[in-house]
Amino acid sequence: TDHSATFEAVRAGMIPAHIYNDKEIFELEKGRLFSRSWQFVAHESEIPDVGDYVVRRVLDDSFIVSRDSKGEVRAMFNMCLHRGMQVCRAEMGNASHFRCPYHGWSYRNDGRIIGLPFHQEAYGGEEGFAKKGQTLLPAPSIDSYNGLIFISLDPNAESLKDYLGDFAFYLDYYTKQSKGGLEMRGPQRWRIKANWKIGAENFAGDMYHTPQTHTSVVEIGLFREPKAEKRKDGNTYWAGNGGGTTYKLPPGSFEDSMRYVGYPDEMIERMKETWSPEQLKVIGENGFMVSAASIFPNISLVHNWPKVEEHSDEVLPFLTLRQWQPISENETEVLSWFVVDKDAPEEFKALSYKAYLMCFGSTGMFEQDDVENWVSLTNTAAGSMARRLHLNSRMGMKIDGSPVVPALGPDEFAGPGEAHVGYGEYNQRHLLERWVDYLEREPNEVDAVSIGGLV
Ligand code: FES
Ligand code: FE
Repeated sequence: TDHSATFEAVRAGMIPAHIYNDKEIFELEKGRLFSRSWQFVAHESEIPDVGDYVVRRVLDDSFIVSRDSKGEVRAMFNMCLHRGMQVCRAEMGNASHFRCPYHGWSYRNDGRIIGLPFHQEAYGGEEGFAKKGQTLLPAPSIDSYNGLIFISLDPNAESLKDYLGDFAFYLDYYTKQSKGGLEMRGPQRWRIKANWKIGAENFAGDMYHTPQTHTSVVEIGLFREPKAEKRKDGNTYWAGNGGGTTYKLPPGSFEDSMRYVGYPDEMIERMKETWSPEQLKVIGENGFMVSAASIFPNISLVHNWPKVEEHSDEVLPFLTLRQWQPISENETEVLSWFVVDKDAPEEFKALSYKAYLMCFGSTGMFEQDDVENWVSLTNTAAGSMARRLHLNSRMGMKIDGSPVVPALGPDEFAGPGEAHVGYGEYNQRHLLERWVDYLEREPNEVDAVSIGGLV
């Protein structure tokens, strides 16, 4: 099918509704988007010691992400070189070797073949089948930022730094609150019957849904009065390959802002040593506190500060990173990690974890509210009527394309990229524009690797 009309509509901020539940579009996403973009697989703190590993997927491809005996991080395609069995079937652990359960070929934790049963009898030894130089297929590209490990199935992928671009400025707020790095717990995993794009768009820029969808969370007294934190006066920003939303805080210094959302002074001190003057200025002088964000295509982050107890005055912040891992056009596996600064006081870590679970774990209150909408959207997008409807994704833009509010100037917002105060679907549009960029391009041919010394 020719999708050019669909892509053109998306570029104009009109979304053909069927893209949220369309088998053919999903095949294109697999072949052209997920085959090329950077995909988050793990954080280094999940595999701190030599031999530690986790097994993670990029859609249908399973990878062992391990710290090999020399301490280097590897990502290896989890398929035996012999007859293709999945080599490692545990989700995480520590191992010096992986042995295939089918016929017993074994591999070091850097992927090299080490043992091949009946090598001499079955293959004529090393000269009949050269083990030397044979390894589990490495991920075509691997790179990391702040300990976040990403892989790409594209051997010619641009560096992760270039891919993130100026979004790295914002990613530091979530993943580098001190020089000690961070700790991640999880992931919790669960499946939702919703298209993967909906969550990514929501976290990127949808502050418009909060007063409606999440009213009950405020009503039961777990958040400050919405009037105190003016959501509509917050902003949305987009930079590089990601964007997010902020809350507008009461005027004050950087320290005041961070105390307002519940950080203890010792953590605030470390942030001041870690972040650049511009990073401090966005939160302090400019008064914008980062909230949810997404990195194209399917990573989201949340920073929020619920009350410690109902109707208490004290709030406590938490951070979470999540991945919208597509299963099909109408199902997504959510992977959700709790994120906390490694140097944070233990008591803070414990309370912050509780706050995370209450809001965004698999049973979190926000989670329940959101997913109800997304499942329903996905269902409705499957039918024939949805093919006649172009949704309007032009909030913040007038009919003639001019902005409802002008972009913030550098004095008002010290962060890179483009930022606008108030409600707008700028980021949802950016996200889907990137999506079109990928879907329009044919992937490059990649060569297959033959095993056993044959060319
Ligand atoms: Fe792995 Fe045969 S498939 S040893
Ligand atoms: Fe929500």
